[in-house]
Amino acid sequence: MKMHPLFTLMVVLGIVTGMYSVYNIFPVSMPLIFVASLAGFFIRLNQFIQEKKKQTDAGAAIDFTKLRARQFSFFGDWIKENVRGHDPVTDHVVGHIQQGLAVAAPGQVLGAFLLPGPTGTGKTFLAEIVAKALYKESEPVLLSMSQYKAAQDVFTLIGPPPGYQGYEIGGALTRPVLENPYRVVILDEFEKAHQDVQHCFYDILDNAQCYEKSSGKKVYFGACVFFATCNCGVDALRKIWQGTPDPALRTGRAREAMAREGFERPLLARFTDILLMDQLSPVEIAEVACLQIAKHWRQYGIEVEYTSPEVLVEAIRRNIEFQDYGVRQLAGLIREITTPSIEEARRTGSTRVRLELDKNTGEVMVSL
Ligand SMILES: Nc1ncnc2c1ncn2[C@@H]1O[C@H](COP(=O)(O)OP(=O)(O)OP(=O)(O)O)[C@@H](O)[C@H]1O
Ligand SMILES: [Mg+2]
Repeated sequence: MKMHPLFTLMVVLGIVTGMYSVYNIFPVSMPLIFVASLAGFFIRLNQFIQEKKKQTDAGAAIDFTKLRARQFSFFGDWIKENVRGHDPVTDHVVGHIQQGLAVAAPGQVLGAFLLPGPTGTGKTFLAEIVAKALYKESEPVLLSMSQYKAAQDVFTLIGPPPGYQGYEIGGALTRPVLENPYRVVILDEFEKAHQDVQHCFYDILDNAQCYEKSSGKKVYFGACVFFATCNCGVDALRKIWQGTPDPALRTGRAREAMAREGFERPLLARFTDILLMDQLSPVEIAEVACLQIAKHWRQYGIEVEYTSPEVLVEAIRRNIEFQDYGVRQLAGLIREITTPSIEEARRTGSTRVRLELDKNTGEVMVSL
């Protein structure tokens, strides 16, 4: 039976006082007895705090009242400023998360989105930006599902049974959520996970809970948003997107297309939405280039006031060769074409610059 620490202290002091009055124990031993009972009190207090902490770890601490009061729609514009070329997808995701927040309750996740699309179109990036907007203070749980190709990798996800190697570390999915239940979970390259690993998400997406195998603790996902990304089914989805304007019908057909790619239907049914994130147009690539140039220069404490269209066209021209990689190579290309001018700007101590293209040399130059 667990006793409250104060109660323990009272009992100990009561016994000590009783012994003193009845047997008249030599008064010198009193301080010793007092110190011992005080130490006992602090040990018990520490146990009490640890127990409380364990209960909090178990996720019982999700404050659903606070979650229901959250206004997430305001972040829509900020997300669209950062993720270019996918405004309808962003609107959908933001709208659904807002709805999920409004009815947040134990037993249901805030949202679960399957994002198929070619490489380098911003699928993982969108999930990361949503995480920044929704839970600024907690890192998203980013799991590369290509590392979960075997059936036994389930244990990496939800922790190995007690006694097995690594059981004290817990699961790669469960442990961060136990520590802080306010998380965005990103399941990258979801199609590559073994079916047994995919099955784990049946319960998680359905009831928003599971048990961590290693600790036996219950993990609550009621404050989580899930994003699963994949590269398969793009051609079929493109056709569906072109020929099906009705969103509900489109989601139904998208589910069928993804089922043909090997996903199980019960799993597909658990995703709130399937949202294609297709190739970016050249104008959208230019917008991404603009963002990446500004981000790159900011690392050196320099604000880019203006980037000439010629610089952007040059970035797109160089990216064409790598267009099958979406904008994956763009950051590298931007670094390549602007690094000499960064050196120049730092030499002259500039903190604000305008970027132009030198028509003769084809190099980016800084005008101050
Ligand atoms: N639409 C976009 N808007 C802004 N930046 C983008 C966009 N798409 C990609 N980027 C940039 O490119 C980087 C790589 O994109 P991301 O990792 O999201 O690609 P992905 O679609 O997940 O590709 P993969 O299928 O290969 O995982 C991002 O970190 C981001 O800087
Ligand atoms: Mg990705």
